Amino acid sequence: MQFFLDTANIDQIKEAASWGILDGVTTNPSLLSKEEGKFEDIIKEICRVVPGPVSVECVSTKVAEIIAEARELSKLADNVVIKIPIFLDGLKATKVISEEGIQVNTTLVFSPNQALLAAKAGARYVSPFIGRLDDITHDGMELVEQILVILDTYGFNTKVIAASIRHPRHVIEAAMMGADIATIPFGVLDKLLKHPLTDLGMDKFLADWEKVKSR
Ligand code: E4P
Repeated sequence: MQFFLDTANIDQIKEAASWGILDGVTTNPSLLSKEEGKFEDIIKEICRVVPGPVSVECVSTKVAEIIAEARELSKLADNVVIKIPIFLDGLKATKVISEEGIQVNTTLVFSPNQALLAAKAGARYVSPFIGRLDDITHDGMELVEQILVILDTYGFNTKVIAASIRHPRHVIEAAMMGADIATIPFGVLDKLLKHPLTDLGMDKFLADWEKVKSR
């Protein structure tokens, strides 16, 4: 399973990269709005730090403009992946730019049919939003499972990114289902590592070692 960091914050990205487990990054306009500086500079810097795919979202809403924007964004770095929301103009643009060899991450996916359409249009990634479905008392994980079954049944070359992750349980469930990737906020990534029994165990071992050492 690959881990992407769901952030545009360069300090968090550098920190996660230093752990040796970071495979990519996903950004979106809301995440970028939290950071200082020019958007292109932020993306270029992220792409320098992360060797894997870095998703950057198109904000155009008409097919010709989305295609033009995607072509421009893809020039920012070799590892840029173009995020396009799933709607009709986005779908048409996905078909065109995927055929040009530009990788697309279809975002804001809330139904299996949306994911199926994106895969048929050539998207490299689809991003079902788990947390936002849970927020409205739907089952985000069920959506991930349905998409995995459908894409696997037909052998699509489209990877599933479990997105809108809110807590470590989402990561466990996505991993058990076989989601290709989880894109995780830094706060959740940090929680994956921690367990109070590990801390207690380490304290005890270190205290006992003091006794052994002083003999
Ligand atoms: C995915 O690529 C999105 O950036 C992200 O997971 C959205 O998560 P949110 O629902 O926490 O905003």
